Amino acid sequence: MNSHTFPVLRLLADGEFHSGELLGQHLKISRAAIWNALQHAQSLGIDIYSVRGKGYKLARALDFIDVKQITKTLGEDAKKFSLTILETCDSTNSLLMQRASNGAAHGTCLVAEIQASGRGRRGRSWVSGLGASLTFSLLWRFNTGASGLGGLSLAVGVALARALNALGADGIALKWPNDVLYQNRKLAGILIELQGEMMGPSAAVIGIGLNVHLPEEIRNGIDQPVADMQEIKPVHRNELLANLLKHLNTVLTQFESEGFAQLREEWQGLHAYQDKQVRLLLPNGDEQYGKVAGIAEDGALLVDSGQGAKRFSSAEISLRNL
Ligand code: BTN
Repeated sequence: MNSHTFPVLRLLADGEFHSGELLGQHLKISRAAIWNALQHAQSLGIDIYSVRGKGYKLARALDFIDVKQITKTLGEDAKKFSLTILETCDSTNSLLMQRASNGAAHGTCLVAEIQASGRGRRGRSWVSGLGASLTFSLLWRFNTGASGLGGLSLAVGVALARALNALGADGIALKWPNDVLYQNRKLAGILIELQGEMMGPSAAVIGIGLNVHLPEEIRNGIDQPVADMQEIKPVHRNELLANLLKHLNTVLTQFESEGFAQLREEWQGLHAYQDKQVRLLLPNGDEQYGKVAGIAEDGALLVDSGQGAKRFSSAEISLRNL
């Protein structure tokens, strides 16, 4: 990591031209150091114009994550969270898992401008870009043990859908167990990792990656169809994050007292595959076919294969080509 990259990008964030000389004076570094920092920014996927006599300009203005703005939008709810913004880290989930085992408080939230090795479910990687995505993890401590947290990841999906709807993003759907979709393309993913005792208490690190404004080069590097907020409803990342946290607090508090049962109907109403014929790929490689009948109170998927509904707690679901 080049230590000057973020300071230079913050000065260029407005999307206007800034001369290399003034940038250098401001940061008390040489023009060569500015140039090196910008080379590094380009390697992170940032497009920069350089015009003789005018200086440097970002192809697209950057809205950096800002605790003050988030706190303002959160209002009263701000005291429920302890926010830390990191310019870079490997994975906010990995870091928060470590901090959780060292006693980090309930409501700790780590947000990364860029993750060097973001993680997705099933050992996949999560691809994001500087200013192009929202990547954060929230620590939520529960009195119950891990066995009482069935349906937690689905509850988080409900919170995301509510927040996005409240911001005016129409057409958001969920895909079991916890993908957020727009027009059948992936808008956001959820990775939940647990620690603690079987009988409780336990701690959940809730990692969320949301596509905000993905440039073509990043989209091309993702192995599935993706959507971003820019095409649905352009929203500044600080406003987006504050709204997500507000709804997460409401839903997680409800989940803690009532479990997933009270959120089940709402989840089913959002399920892109409800009543659809699907193919399930099971962890052992077997396949199952059937019609999605709904979700059980513990979050398991119920599929009717013709001989009654079967429960699935882990599988990859896809629409069946008929
Ligand atoms: C999925 O595979 O759909 C889950 C993706 C979760 C990505 C987020 S980004 C923030 C947090 N840190 C990670 O390394 N992963 C999660």
